[in-house]
Amino acid sequence: MLDITQPPTHPLIAASILSADFGAMAKDCQDVLGKGADLLHIDVMDGHFVSNLTMGADMIRGVRRHLPDVFLDVHLMVQRPGDYVDSFAQAGANLFAFHVEVCKPMRPDGVDAGELIKRIRDAGMSPGMVVNPPTTLQQLEQGIGPHLNDLDLVLVMSVIPGRSGQKFIPEVLEKTRWLKERTAPGTRIEMDGGLNVETTPLAVAAGTDVIVTASALFGSDDRAKVIVAMKAAGV
Ligand code: DX5
Ligand code: ZN
Repeated sequence: MLDITQPPTHPLIAASILSADFGAMAKDCQDVLGKGADLLHIDVMDGHFVSNLTMGADMIRGVRRHLPDVFLDVHLMVQRPGDYVDSFAQAGANLFAFHVEVCKPMRPDGVDAGELIKRIRDAGMSPGMVVNPPTTLQQLEQGIGPHLNDLDLVLVMSVIPGRSGQKFIPEVLEKTRWLKERTAPGTRIEMDGGLNVETTPLAVAAGTDVIVTASALFGSDDRAKVIVAMKAAGV
C-alpha cells in the first residue's frame, strides 16, 4: 500500500474513476493500475454541494473488494462530510478529503475542520482538505492555513467541481505555490481538473505532487503513454 506521507520521486498519478467504465469498474481500474497509475481517486457528489450525483460507500466497498492493495483517495464534494467518516472508513477508504467551502469560517454554520480532521484520523484514514478555484488566497489561509500541519494532503481544484472533461484554470497555480511554501514534507499537494500531458508540467512546477486525471487518462487509447508522459514532468 502506498504511503501518502512519503515524498514521491515522481508525480503520483491518481486515476479518477469518474471517467472509468461504470459497467466494468474493477476491470478498468486494474487496467490503469497495471499501466502505472499509483492510486485511485473517487469523486463523491451529493447533488447539493455540486448539482451532480455520483457514488458513495458502496462503490468504495466494491472497488476495495476487487483491489485490496490500492490506495483509495476519496474526494467529497458534499455539504456534510462528517456524515460519511465511519461508513467510508469501513468501506475501505484511505484518504478522506473535504472542502474548505463547507467549513467555518467560510460557512459560519458549517463544519469545524479541526474536529473533523481528528475524527478522520481516529477512523484510521488520512485527512485532506480541498479548495475550489473561486476561493481566494485569503480564504485559503484562514480556512486551511491553521490545519496544514494536521493534514496529509491538500487538494487544489483546477476546475469548478462537478464533472470531468473541463478546461484547466491556470489561476489556481498561485494558491499551489503558496501551499508548497508552507507544507511539511509529509503533506502532499494534489491537483484535480483539466490535467493532461500539456497542463501537468505547470501543476508540478508549482508544487503539485499528486496529479488527478479522469478524461485524459480513461479517454486515451494509449493510457500507458499518458501516464509515462505525466510522470516525466518530474517533482
Ligand atoms: C471534478 C472531479 C475530478 C474529475 C476530473 O469535479 O473532482 O476528479 O473527475 O476530471 P478531468 O481529469 O477530466 O478534468
Ligand atoms: Zn476529484
